[in-house]
Amino acid sequence: MKVVFSKPVLPDTGALVVGVLQNRRLTPSAKLLDSKMNGELTRAIKASRFKGAKAQTLTILAPVGTKLDRAFVVGLGKAKDIKSLGMQALGGGIYAALGSKGDKMVAVAIDALEGCKLNPAEMAAEVAYGARLRSFQFDKYRTKEKKTDKPTLNTLRVLCSGFARAKTVFAGKEKIADGVFFTRHLVSEPPNVIYPESLANQARTLTKLGVKVQVLNRARMQALGMGALLGVGKGSAREPKMVVMQWHGARQSAAKKRGGRADVPIAFVGKGVTFDSGGISIKPSRGMEDMKWDMGGAGVVIGLMKTLAGRKARVNAVGVIGLVENMPSSTAQRPGDIVTSMSGQTIEVINTDAEGRLVLADALWYCKDRFKPKLIIDLATLTGAIIICLGNQKAGLFSNDDVLAKRIAAAGEVVGEPVWRMPLGDEYDRMLKSDTADVRNISGGHGAGSITAAQFLQRFVDKTPWAHLDIAGVTWSKKDLPTVPKGGTGFGVRLLDCLVANHYESK
Ligand code: BES
Ligand code: MN
Ligand code: ZN
Repeated sequence: MKVVFSKPVLPDTGALVVGVLQNRRLTPSAKLLDSKMNGELTRAIKASRFKGAKAQTLTILAPVGTKLDRAFVVGLGKAKDIKSLGMQALGGGIYAALGSKGDKMVAVAIDALEGCKLNPAEMAAEVAYGARLRSFQFDKYRTKEKKTDKPTLNTLRVLCSGFARAKTVFAGKEKIADGVFFTRHLVSEPPNVIYPESLANQARTLTKLGVKVQVLNRARMQALGMGALLGVGKGSAREPKMVVMQWHGARQSAAKKRGGRADVPIAFVGKGVTFDSGGISIKPSRGMEDMKWDMGGAGVVIGLMKTLAGRKARVNAVGVIGLVENMPSSTAQRPGDIVTSMSGQTIEVINTDAEGRLVLADALWYCKDRFKPKLIIDLATLTGAIIICLGNQKAGLFSNDDVLAKRIAAAGEVVGEPVWRMPLGDEYDRMLKSDTADVRNISGGHGAGSITAAQFLQRFVDKTPWAHLDIAGVTWSKKDLPTVPKGGTGFGVRLLDCLVANHYESK
């Protein structure tokens, strides 16, 4: 779907969207349409239960006095309560309502509203961004889909004063949507198509945006001593990979110019289990197909790097993803095996289904060891227990750094990807004590499964400021949301892009 911005002149044909405020107060565009309709818009509104409340809608087919096919009236609520996220949701709602109704082009009229904190150009850009985010589709394998079931909308025209400004604002947001779409695409692909090597190849495509991409193969990882990650991959015919992505976008700092160390990067680490069968500790077959998106953390890191490079963010960022397939076979790792991680810590593998932490153990250590980053944020579909805690509404946040945790939580609120901070503590770490190795991969006690998993990860970051996002509950949505169609959500890309923009870009 193409987005264009143009000056606020109402079209004579096609589909037109106008807004109405709380208590049926018409916006200037709605008033203009009403006068073209000789007052019949007001009459139609009065004949319905439409009050202009936020997210309420009313469709009028073939409005009298015009050559329009339809007028779509949207409720805006109170002008003083209009916010960015609400405008994005409105755009998403417009796409959902009109995307497949037969219109090739839909025009949305945006007005200056008294008491509203956003100007028309800002509102227009948010509406367009929301529509774009909602328009994602993964239908490449639905070869028999009827033409009449496919979306028809190919152009969204947003009408507002200051449309040149709207276009610029939207261009920035479009880069975020590009990253989100890439992530959604990767998590949607089936596990026979996306496996460590093919996912690494997808990451390689970022090279054309100026990202430096390196792929470590099994031999290289063996040489580095990554026994924890490699143990998980032992049962699979697919070779494990680790991908390192580097984006150098920071302006040279004063320190560097004086011959000091180059600007230290911030780092993102992702769990990339391209299919999690559980391994020898095999999962029940019901719902096992969901485990294709157990590479969601890696998918977010790739999508985020695409966004940062796409918008030429003034930051040095590193992305490290550990890619493995967790399969049962005669060569698979067994419960009881003891592996040696790159950090030197030995791990007793009690349950081969607690594999994500084993992958991250080596990815985190490698990242810290090689780049000595300012901070590390990891993302992982790590535990089913976080879904018990937080459902599909919020991701779990764990951190050894209060400032970082606050910044992440604040960014999540801004972009509508909320997180909730969970505790860490020695009392949880003790539950990971092993009789035969330095640590065991699942807790020996009861409960707190997400916390003990995070506690396990913490052993592999030392003192580096670190945050872990358990995204098991938010990576896939079973239902349509305003700016997220059901399926892969891309949760994390918008949040981390916002975090970088707010705190880690050079002037
Ligand atoms: N990938 C799963 C976690 C998961 C579950 C993600 C549901 C998304 C939806 C992870 O590897 C796993 O299997 N975790 C186990 C840990 C347990 C064995 C300690 C779990 O949560 O059951
Ligand atoms: Mn598992
Ligand atoms: Zn897993």
